[in-house]
Amino acid sequence: MKILVTGGAGYIGSHTCVELLNAGYEVVVVDNLMNSNEISLERVKKITGKSLKFYQEDLLNYEEIKKIFLIEKPDSVIHFAGLKAVGESVEKPLWYYENNIVGTINLIKVMKETEVKNLVFSSSATVYGLSKIVPIKEDFPLNTTNPYGATKLMIEQILMDVVNADDSWKIISLRYFNPVGAHKSGLIGEDPNGIPNNLLPFVSQVAVGKRDVLSVFGNDYDTVDGTGVRDFIHVVDLALGHIKALDKIDKISGYKAYNLGTGRGVSVLQMIKAFEKASGKEIKYKIVGRRSGDIGESFADPSLANKELGWKANLTIEDICKDAWNWQKNNPEGYK
Ligand code: NAD
Ligand code: UFG
Repeated sequence: MKILVTGGAGYIGSHTCVELLNAGYEVVVVDNLMNSNEISLERVKKITGKSLKFYQEDLLNYEEIKKIFLIEKPDSVIHFAGLKAVGESVEKPLWYYENNIVGTINLIKVMKETEVKNLVFSSSATVYGLSKIVPIKEDFPLNTTNPYGATKLMIEQILMDVVNADDSWKIISLRYFNPVGAHKSGLIGEDPNGIPNNLLPFVSQVAVGKRDVLSVFGNDYDTVDGTGVRDFIHVVDLALGHIKALDKIDKISGYKAYNLGTGRGVSVLQMIKAFEKASGKEIKYKIVGRRSGDIGESFADPSLANKELGWKANLTIEDICKDAWNWQKNNPEGYK
């Protein structure tokens, strides 16, 4: 079975390529490297001892993407390629809408023309907007608060419509909660550009001495210790969720969406403590005001994925911190 992976050189994509190769799939990556480095794919080969094919191409180049499909004739597609920074999407909405939506429409059109009708799509818990009820289930109301989230929601709607129009499509959207951590080899991991927006990469960079102090955004939420609570999921558990989705895709009817989370909430302060323990480093932090657009608590009800995909997150917060630290200390400058 051959899987075409868009965005496969990126953070979640590279970890998923490892698990695909380990599971015996043939892998073809299409990525324009706008937010990644080809070295990640060399590392994927090193970890697995297996090969994969790489095309440096942009999903906006419809004709080139079609050529790749005609040459490769994949059985299924996993679609990670997209821009993902919430703040940047507010500043540059048209760029986000064009890249994420037009890129996806091109992909779907090419898939339709080349008769490839199995797709697993990277969605996000951001589609639940500012939901105040936890744990979050798939049938909760959907809405968004920023252009990035809007692209995820619109793409889910497009995919649903595609299936409604032609039920020979099989499409699964996986709604990720907070992907963190790295492969245990320390060879691949998250490599953010500039100052990290997300908690774990920032904490890792404080631990390795690249940043002085973490700002904790608010300690007055109605949570265990007043700081934000999230469902941090190890990226390898997340990657394995894609393998389960592919295993089941032929058996599902039409369009399905699944939460990929642990079902467990961890606070910012709990995360800092766990990281200090795993790294043996002090994480200096200061409490500052809430970050605009944040919610106090968000965690998944992952029971649908457990029941229908046979998937469950197994790795702990300790594993997450140990593996994130192993990646950070061995690659203080990321892939550069
Ligand atoms: P990433 O930026 O590391 O990976 C995305 C990859 O897609 C990059 O390698 C980038 O170069 C590529 N890409 C972007 N636009 C492209 C285009 N037009 N053509 C070809 N390649 C293109 O991000 P990630 O963290 O691995 O996220 C993967 C997917 O998961 C994204 O769709 C993201 O929105 C979604 N997601 C991520 C998170 C998270 O916290 N990391 C959470 C929820 C959902
Ligand atoms: N936080 C800090 N300091 C930081 C960074 C984050 O205190 O420097 C706190 C946040 O306030 C929040 C928690 O750490 O309480 C987690 O924040 P992240 O930025 O790591 O993650 P978010 O849950 O805010 O965002 C993630 C994804 C988004 C997605 C969103 C909603 O990164 O892409 O979930 O699903 F839109």
